[in-house]
Amino acid sequence: DDTHSTTLRTPIVAVLGHVDHGKTSLLDKIRGSAVSEGEAGAITQHIGATDIPLATISTMAGELVQPEDFDLPGLLFIDTPGHHSFSTLRARGGALADIAVLVVDVNDGFQPQTEEAIDILRRTGTPFVVAANKIDTTAGWNPQEGLPIQETYEEQSERARSMLDENLYALIGELSDAGFSADLYWRVQDFQKNIGVVPVSAMTGEGVPDLLTVLMGLSQRFMKEEMAIDVAGPGVGTVLEVKEERGFGATVDAVMYDGVIRTDDQVVIGGQDEPIVTDIRALLQPQPLAEIRTEKQFEKVDSVAAAAGVKIAAPDLADAMAGAPVRVVRDRDIDDVITEVTAEL
Ligand code: GTP
Ligand code: MG
Repeated sequence: DDTHSTTLRTPIVAVLGHVDHGKTSLLDKIRGSAVSEGEAGAITQHIGATDIPLATISTMAGELVQPEDFDLPGLLFIDTPGHHSFSTLRARGGALADIAVLVVDVNDGFQPQTEEAIDILRRTGTPFVVAANKIDTTAGWNPQEGLPIQETYEEQSERARSMLDENLYALIGELSDAGFSADLYWRVQDFQKNIGVVPVSAMTGEGVPDLLTVLMGLSQRFMKEEMAIDVAGPGVGTVLEVKEERGFGATVDAVMYDGVIRTDDQVVIGGQDEPIVTDIRALLQPQPLAEIRTEKQFEKVDSVAAAAGVKIAAPDLADAMAGAPVRVVRDRDIDDVITEVTAEL
């Protein structure tokens, strides 16, 4: 019976942290892109989404991630702004997350929006790892492009190593003050009890193999059951942004986190005044590894399965609202769907 078969969806990984601590740069390193450089003052102002397929993760992580050991299709990263004025967007990103990366500048340690992000993760009960970023700024650091952390450690002077260790232990102390028992990730036995700290550099890519390995490992081990979705179920998602698109008028960039959305679907989307009921005209998918926020080369597709970023073109989307739900009607009662969307606004 095809209507009841399930598939494992991509886990959604929210990237949270204080302004300028390197969230977008870390994703740039993973994508091989330069989104941060295109931002005014390197300040992120919207939520983004990027699909990283397992094959890419495996290539970056090297021996640490063998594709045959995993049956999750990859990771969908959600970039969030760290500037203090965007707390709504951080909360929205946190709410979407299955798992999170808290990015902390290893020299600066905890800052106000680090605390805010921790509060979001605590409130939503989202498991997370800490990326202790900018290790390359340690005085006397000898950068080793893209290497796992243990290997780059071996290339550092005693002095550089102990300076970094000092910063890392200070960070572990701050996590402890915030009520989280944490340790360097390779010392963590039980990731459900302790937070793993992964030293990384978004600039040199050092430690990025470790971070990807930890994220894939955690997802595979603890989240497989939650990732099982009905392959034919009606799609459910959240609006990231409402955007004018040439030839399409107002469109909605959304993250779909359940089911599947198809071009012949009717959808209900939360609007400024009332729920919008509309028929999809086109589904536009960003290329793999592309940030939906800056993507220009969308591909027209017939359907999109969760979890994924998608641009939805349909009539009457001008009043759609960022943060509002998107629900496919399919064979459900339209009034029930409208009631659900209204309840979530
Ligand atoms: P918001 O989105 O505004 O919160 O900032 P962000 O956390 O996305 O920071 P972003 O990635 O834009 O980086 C801020 C600045 O830090 C940029 O100038 C980056 O080049 C720099 N940066 C980020 N990561 C690293 C790193 O690992 N090493 C060094 N040396 N610089 C970094
Ligand atoms: Mg950013």
